[in-house]
Amino acid sequence: MSLVTITATENGSAEQHRQWCESLEAGSILFFPKSPIALADSDLQFLRGQQQTDSSLHKNIAYKPKSNELTGVDTKTANPAAVDRLRAIMRNYSQSVTAFLTGFLSPYAGQWQLDYASFRPQEEEGRDLPLRRRNDLLHTDAFPTRPTHGARILRFFNNIHPTRTRDWIVSDPFRSVAAKYAPAEIALPQPDSGIGRAFKSLATGIGLGAAAPALKRSPYDDFMMRFHNFLKENRAFQSSCSKYDYQFPAGSSWMVYTDMVPHAVLCGQYALEQTYLVAPQAMVAPQHAPLTVLQELTGARLI
Ligand SMILES: [Fe+2]
Repeated sequence: MSLVTITATENGSAEQHRQWCESLEAGSILFFPKSPIALADSDLQFLRGQQQTDSSLHKNIAYKPKSNELTGVDTKTANPAAVDRLRAIMRNYSQSVTAFLTGFLSPYAGQWQLDYASFRPQEEEGRDLPLRRRNDLLHTDAFPTRPTHGARILRFFNNIHPTRTRDWIVSDPFRSVAAKYAPAEIALPQPDSGIGRAFKSLATGIGLGAAAPALKRSPYDDFMMRFHNFLKENRAFQSSCSKYDYQFPAGSSWMVYTDMVPHAVLCGQYALEQTYLVAPQAMVAPQHAPLTVLQELTGARLI
């Protein structure tokens, strides 16, 4: 596992942009000690104030950029002006991260879908969550309700706490973990059925590409969801796997392919995050992609 520290984000060459994509795809975390995303002090203070001042804004809050909608906010009891302001801050954050990454990761231009953004106001240490929803157990990401059909889950984070670090542990990337556990301990995915192929060609034909949310889950998606659950539930893996500690300081950003790097957050409060679903054909180093690894292991097409 490696962390690539980036202090200068301006004027990178096309080759530099490709190398950043390659590092991400190999399982590195790209770390920005000073976030390239500008956030107004007044907005940061508003976000940090939610925990104390407005109980209806306590939960993990998701922002859906395409419909400009917030979820996780009880709009019946929340102050409407506060909800409007939070929505505006999240829209601005989503647009700022996207504008930055459009240049920084230029090889992916036009080949990602903007997914949800989130605001994470709660202290992560000691949260009382059901096991499969716990953030403090190592896992790779998969979405129960949004199959990606092989698209990659790329996440960009900001630690917006005024002083404290956000502490992660990560483990070795997908290929080594899947090769060790998948064949023996969890069933590998089975090749697609005819119905799955029909849905896939329909999705492609109507321009929904890899991440059509309402469509049937592919064998790849089924496996990735089972793998997420397996890792969280596997005490031997949690205790004995390789672990690398990272403390992301206040005011920093980082990004990582969370579908391939097992990760857990141990402590920290107040983070912003934006997710992208990057098309499999956009990969500059596709040999590392979970889909490639699984198709090698099974010898079958899985989307
Ligand atoms: Fe995660």
